[in-house]
Amino acid sequence: MPATSQRVYVGASARVPEGGRLVVDVGDTTIGIFRFQGQLYAYLNTCAHQGGPVCQGKIIPRVTEVIDPGGESRGFAFDESSLHIVCPWHGFEYDIKTGVHPGRPSARLIRVAVDETSEGVYVTF
Ligand code: FES
Repeated sequence: MPATSQRVYVGASARVPEGGRLVVDVGDTTIGIFRFQGQLYAYLNTCAHQGGPVCQGKIIPRVTEVIDPGGESRGFAFDESSLHIVCPWHGFEYDIKTGVHPGRPSARLIRVAVDETSEGVYVTF
């Protein structure tokens, strides 16, 4: 990464659809930009586990276990209020809003500042 931060145009807003992502190279840095519930989030494309290309993994809602009133498991369900990115190398998951692994809070992605204007999407890093 450069020694001083720079704000870089990465594309039109339509390139980051709701629930989707745009992965771009800015110089020798790869950044993943996500849109969820209308908000943009961006991270370096480097998994906290072993450096895999995390931003290119599957995007899925959080999976939760359904427990009945008696405490019995009734299987699993998607929680559509939370979206995760799954690293394609070994399956570490990160909450797109926070960049944090839900089961291992010490594993977190490196956030990149992102903003949007009428011209499109910019990252600053
Ligand atoms: S490098 Fe991402 S899960 Fe291992």
